[in-house]
Amino acid sequence: MVALAWAGVQAYNLLASCVPSLSPLSQPGPALFPSPPGSIESLAHIPATMKLSWLEAAVLTAASVASAQDDLAYSPPYYPSPWATGKGEWAEAHNRAVQMVLQMTLDEKVNLTTGTGWQLERCVGQTGSVPRLGLGSLCLQDSPLGVRFSDYNSAFPAGVNVAATWDRQLAYLRGQAMGQEFSDKGIDILLGPAAGPLGRHPDGGRNWEGFSPDPVLSGVLFAESIKGIQDAGVIATAKHYILNEQEHFRQAGEAVGYGYNITESVSENLDDKTLHELYLWPFADAVRAGVGAVMCSYQQINNSYGCQNSYLLNKVLKAELGYQGFVMSDWAATHSGVGAALAGMDMTMPGDVAFNSATSYFGGNLTIAVLNGTIPQWRVDDMAVRILTAYYKVGRDRLYTPPNFSSWTRDENGFAHFAVSEGEYGQVNEFVDVQRNHASIIQRVASNSVVLLKNEGSLPLSGKERTVAILGEDAGSNPDGANGCSDRGCAQGTLAMGWGSGTANFPYLITPEQAIQQEVIRGRGSVFAVTDNWSLDKIESTAAQSSVSLVFVNAGGGEGYISVDDNEGDRKNLTLWKNGENVIKAAASNCKNTVVVIHSVGPVLVDQFYDHPNVTAILWAGLPGQESGNSLADVLYGRVNPSGKTPFTWGKTREAYGDPLLTKANNGDGAPQTDHTEGVFIDYRHFDKTDQTPIYEFGYGLSYTTFSYANLSVERLHAPPYIPTRGQTTPAPTFGVISKAAAYVFPEALERITQFIYPWINSTDLAASSGDPAYGLDHSDYLPEGARDGSPQDLLPASGGDGGNSGLYDDLFRISATIKNTGSVTGSEVPQVYVSLGGPNEPKVVLRGFDKLKLQPGEEQVFTTTLTRRDLSNWDTEKQDWVITPHPKRVFVGSSSRKLALKALLPTVE
Ligand code: BGC
Ligand code: BGC
Repeated sequence: MVALAWAGVQAYNLLASCVPSLSPLSQPGPALFPSPPGSIESLAHIPATMKLSWLEAAVLTAASVASAQDDLAYSPPYYPSPWATGKGEWAEAHNRAVQMVLQMTLDEKVNLTTGTGWQLERCVGQTGSVPRLGLGSLCLQDSPLGVRFSDYNSAFPAGVNVAATWDRQLAYLRGQAMGQEFSDKGIDILLGPAAGPLGRHPDGGRNWEGFSPDPVLSGVLFAESIKGIQDAGVIATAKHYILNEQEHFRQAGEAVGYGYNITESVSENLDDKTLHELYLWPFADAVRAGVGAVMCSYQQINNSYGCQNSYLLNKVLKAELGYQGFVMSDWAATHSGVGAALAGMDMTMPGDVAFNSATSYFGGNLTIAVLNGTIPQWRVDDMAVRILTAYYKVGRDRLYTPPNFSSWTRDENGFAHFAVSEGEYGQVNEFVDVQRNHASIIQRVASNSVVLLKNEGSLPLSGKERTVAILGEDAGSNPDGANGCSDRGCAQGTLAMGWGSGTANFPYLITPEQAIQQEVIRGRGSVFAVTDNWSLDKIESTAAQSSVSLVFVNAGGGEGYISVDDNEGDRKNLTLWKNGENVIKAAASNCKNTVVVIHSVGPVLVDQFYDHPNVTAILWAGLPGQESGNSLADVLYGRVNPSGKTPFTWGKTREAYGDPLLTKANNGDGAPQTDHTEGVFIDYRHFDKTDQTPIYEFGYGLSYTTFSYANLSVERLHAPPYIPTRGQTTPAPTFGVISKAAAYVFPEALERITQFIYPWINSTDLAASSGDPAYGLDHSDYLPEGARDGSPQDLLPASGGDGGNSGLYDDLFRISATIKNTGSVTGSEVPQVYVSLGGPNEPKVVLRGFDKLKLQPGEEQVFTTTLTRRDLSNWDTEKQDWVITPHPKRVFVGSSSRKLALKALLPTVE
């Protein structure tokens, strides 16, 4: 196993090897309860096969990792957890939050931090409420493409389609429209957008929920989506922080489903440079855009779980990026109480340790931990402040309304507490139509995301075709209905979203067959659809009689808790599903004008048909959402001139992309290990580095017109010099007072709901209340050093503003070029700016800017963008800061990552 160290922190490793309580491998991992049952040494030899309680298991993890696996990658500790300061744009919301928290009792604060348990209330997650101060329970609901588990809501195009538009405005409008729908349903926190996974693997199951494997394209559209959502008065969640790059092994329990009995989740092992320059980049943009919530991820990063990784939560997210909102766990991704709290997690979701376990790492255990001093008051105060800051920042207090739908039934009536059939029986679904006129924005995003990969002149269609064949299952309806498969976990009919929690119910789904049929009938033609992929003879004969054959193929993917045809979330290959290649061949060998339409979650292998002489056009339509057919017809019939650009690379083989994702556990029953030996070289950076020509390169896409590029100009701007931040924070503030234990005992008058997670303790005897047999043993060794220190802390050089040191965002150069429409129809072009940072180990080029310009025939426009200091910097692991290296840097402008018509050397900057 290669141990990848976080460069520049090796000194810590030495220290750690003699001080076990500072275990760098999995910190802190200890106490869920205030007092762990003994020291690391005493637990280190408990056999792994012994059945441990969840309490002991977490302790053992830290111990065994520390003692036995010194060769594994590690994540250095960083404590204490930074307290919010309410700087800059956050000031007003922060002040309001503080005023509220000042009035709150400990149990009320804890209630904000803890979900009430899986399916105990109507949303996929709900916090406790603070009725005394007029705060309702906060409703958290999926997904990044529309309201999940509801009705009369829209099903928007997926994130990957937003990426293919390369259009900031459309990203914003879609975000805003989604925000309105969530708000109208009574949802406070939208569980999206996603930029993790970023897309390390072309076959990663959830890439489509996010945007693109390019961090700049992702970051820009991530930020615009967040702004749109939050401008509609709903808190957006940047997820999954971070490195949820594959579904395999993301949760140990799921791996049983594909034959592995492992004790811990996969660890994504990477170095600090790769982290900063690739995976963290869009999250910095999210923080800069003012995102209110961040969801920490299931898997481990350098052998420390995403939701208790102090390096990533305390240091990188809160201290370096200056994040002022809150961190919530992914669902059941919390692995400790005290450990997670001190490492920077602020809210546990859905609240219980395992779904419906009736136990919680937070809730009453957090109350106990604060009462006995294991967790300092300032930390729980900071959690509450951060949650309420996000709430006020988006103006949620003015829009708040309780949820008017239930995630768990489409029936009108049900029990208030679904999981246990308790509480009032009454109306749980009010069937509120929240769609407004969003169908039009959905259609616009979808048609603007279509990528025209090949066109030998057969498109656009005239509408006068005499006989049109529509071939392939992907053209038609799901025989079980558009929502027939739970969480869209199947492969039936046309593909318009992936599967998992990143879905929404369709209000309807316009299939390609339906939309195209209407077009053909309008042109008085004949139209025949064969949607059985195994009726190859009927496909052949129908194609043979047609003036044009439109062939539909697909490939799905999704979240790891659902497996479709042995695709465990991640795709098992990059080939087309359900005989797709043969459907295309059957059509193409019988019809000289065969147009292929691909609906897929990511790249597929097109090598078998892309250069077939009868395949006259190929379009990628991604996952278009409810207006699938209409948006596609707009492009096929030329009402919309295609302007999508592929947001990922189309390689000749799976191997062309580099190492496969990890599908076999490689560390016994311990955490599988996946080492990012490729560093920042994913997607096009990998193809460039290995000098492979892809079939379609990143950024590529045709139009019905043509464009020319000229007149590159590079203008140096006068930015102030970069000043690494110095100084110290203020001391940790506390708000309000903590009373004696008696004040937090479960109120006698209240009737307990089974499995419901409460903030209260069972008795004033904290030991008894904790249920921890080892309560009271000395745990001072166990807490990571400095974790409870509320004194002023050193500021990090790369910190200062939202998203890092504000000097990183100073513009250093203005880049402009003239783009001309040289064809005969109006069209939109996406000029792209790439930079070469120089240096022996840098990618050939990296995307740094883009825009979308609409041009009439013959019209030219000047495309302008700027390069910031961050755009020209590399992460220096020694300095722990961004630096502009002395290597000569170049700038390129063109229409794709490999069609870079214009280039120039950049003047030297320091
Ligand atoms: C997913 C999250 C989702 C959550 C709630 C998790 O399994 O990873 O993306 O928001 O469940 O459904
Ligand atoms: C839920 C998802 C969640 C997943 C976590 C499923 O049962 O529906 O929301 O993401 O469990 O594993």
